[in-house]
Amino acid sequence: MEKRLALAADAPALAALHAESFGAAAWSLAQIAESLALETTLGLVAYDGGAVQGFVLCQITESEAEILTFCVTPSARRKGVGRDLLIGAQEATRQRQAQRLFLEVAADNTAALALYDQSGFRVIGKRSAYYSHDGKTVDAVMLGADL
Ligand SMILES: CC(C)(COP(=O)(O)OP(=O)(O)OC[C@H]1O[C@@H](n2cnc3c(N)ncnc32)[C@H](O)[C@@H]1OP(=O)(O)O)[C@@H](O)C(=O)NCCC(=O)NCCS
Repeated sequence: MEKRLALAADAPALAALHAESFGAAAWSLAQIAESLALETTLGLVAYDGGAVQGFVLCQITESEAEILTFCVTPSARRKGVGRDLLIGAQEATRQRQAQRLFLEVAADNTAALALYDQSGFRVIGKRSAYYSHDGKTVDAVMLGADL
């Protein structure tokens, strides 16, 4: 597995992967393309043999960065791809002068919560009923890590 910065040309592959991971809540191709086009966006792609296996998009605003979205294709999960992308995001945002990295995650997303905890993120807040899926609402846990 290798990593590189995301390019505008990656948008269709990233949108397909996002749909696979997030279903009805996935970003559209236009939303992914628009995010990639912003100066403030830093994207990292994990790939193997030319196929994209996962990606993370971060937004950097001066000394703070935020993970906008992050996913790994189901067939490549539990192989360390997510951890590697997260480490890459921490390194890359630090190199762009960010001092803190934030994110929001659904309180019932045990896989992501375990990974974030291992990667040095700590709970800094909660947003009640922030997500809505399958007819129910789920809180968002706000996490932050020093870079
Ligand atoms: C969260 C996600 C990115 C993790 O990607 P991944 O490549 O499978 O993660 P890794 O293989 O690097 O896992 C690292 C650690 O995270 C934890 N973890 C990952 N998946 C887990 C699961 N399903 N259940 C419990 N712990 C899990 C484990 O501690 C794991 O280490 P281990 O495999 O040595 O036990 C992936 O599950 C995913 O894309 N989920 C859907 C989208 C999503 O929820 N994105 C995050 C939104 S905030």
